[in-house]
Amino acid sequence: MIFDAWSLLREEVRELPVYSPGKSPEEVAREWGISECVKMASNENPLGPSPRALQALQEALPTVHLYPDGNCYQLREALSRRLGVGMECLLVTHGADEAFDLLAYAFLNRGDQVVVGDPTFSSYELAARTMGAEVRKVPLRDYRQDIPAMLEAVSERTKMMVLCSPLNPTGTTVSAPELEEAASRLPGHVLLVLDEAYREYVDDPRHPDALEYFSRYPHMVVTRTFSKIYGLAGLRVGYAVCSPAVREALEKVKLPFNVNRLGQVAALAALEDEEHVERSREANRRGKSALYRILEECGFRYVPTQANFILVNNGDRPHLFLELLRRGIIVRDGEALGVPGHVRITIGNEDQNRRLGEALRDIVERG
Ligand SMILES: Cc1ncc(COP(=O)(O)O)c(C=O)c1O
Repeated sequence: MIFDAWSLLREEVRELPVYSPGKSPEEVAREWGISECVKMASNENPLGPSPRALQALQEALPTVHLYPDGNCYQLREALSRRLGVGMECLLVTHGADEAFDLLAYAFLNRGDQVVVGDPTFSSYELAARTMGAEVRKVPLRDYRQDIPAMLEAVSERTKMMVLCSPLNPTGTTVSAPELEEAASRLPGHVLLVLDEAYREYVDDPRHPDALEYFSRYPHMVVTRTFSKIYGLAGLRVGYAVCSPAVREALEKVKLPFNVNRLGQVAALAALEDEEHVERSREANRRGKSALYRILEECGFRYVPTQANFILVNNGDRPHLFLELLRRGIIVRDGEALGVPGHVRITIGNEDQNRRLGEALRDIVERG
């Protein structure tokens, strides 16, 4: 029997790239023989998970033989209280990533269009293309999403526009007037998805509260995650805030038990551990100032960030990514993120930031 999986594949899937998460410390150890690696590449919380989440996980371990609550009732109830939105507007997902997939499964037909910034977080494009939708990429302007140009790109075939604030990979945000413009000018046949994975790190007091807009604009879907400031990336929990009608549509295409038991209890405990969130936010603020100082001292230009990562211009060092890797520091190469000539550095803890500083000074001193 001759079996050719490739020939059975849907055309749009054949053309899809495989998501690349960047290098892991294990890979670097294997390939480069460097054992003491510092990973500043995936925008995880360098303080780790909340102690309360760890305690809740310990207590939940003996119950893992039971299926989880498919409706995430307790977590949705807690989120509903915290965010001031009805439980019927909340869908908990297997990481925020799953929300983009569900939106694509439920709403996108072959030939529909999705408008995104360029560059932006790659999951939106992968989800859309899996369904055979066309992705219209609108170049950033000064490292920010160009809302007027994105609105210009909307056509009768557009089903979705995805904004990311703060934007991965630049750390810039969508302002309140821009969000208002996008929400009010988009026609009724277009969903406005706002990915706020890094929202909790924002320290600009003028940053809009997306949930206020959401109550006025039912075509808006806001996605958030427990992977970043809540420190639970390994457990895969995110959520979407959307109109009850959109939620019902997403429910139809999600797996019955999409969020596992441990993820649900840990997210609930992490949500309630405001002290850990504040500690993480403060550590990020201090780390950001420390990295700004180091970058300026070493003569690197960077994009001021509202998130837990910094986009740095390589300047006259095209191989900065490799030069850092050789010194045991893993960052993301801008090339892979759609910003050649840059690296994206996750703000680390004090020790990680210090090691990055030493590596950068060494690189610059050696010329
Ligand atoms: C902008 C953005 N959105 C969503 C995600 C995915 O989050 P999750 O881990 O909840 O799937 C990431 C992860 O890096 C991200 O950077």
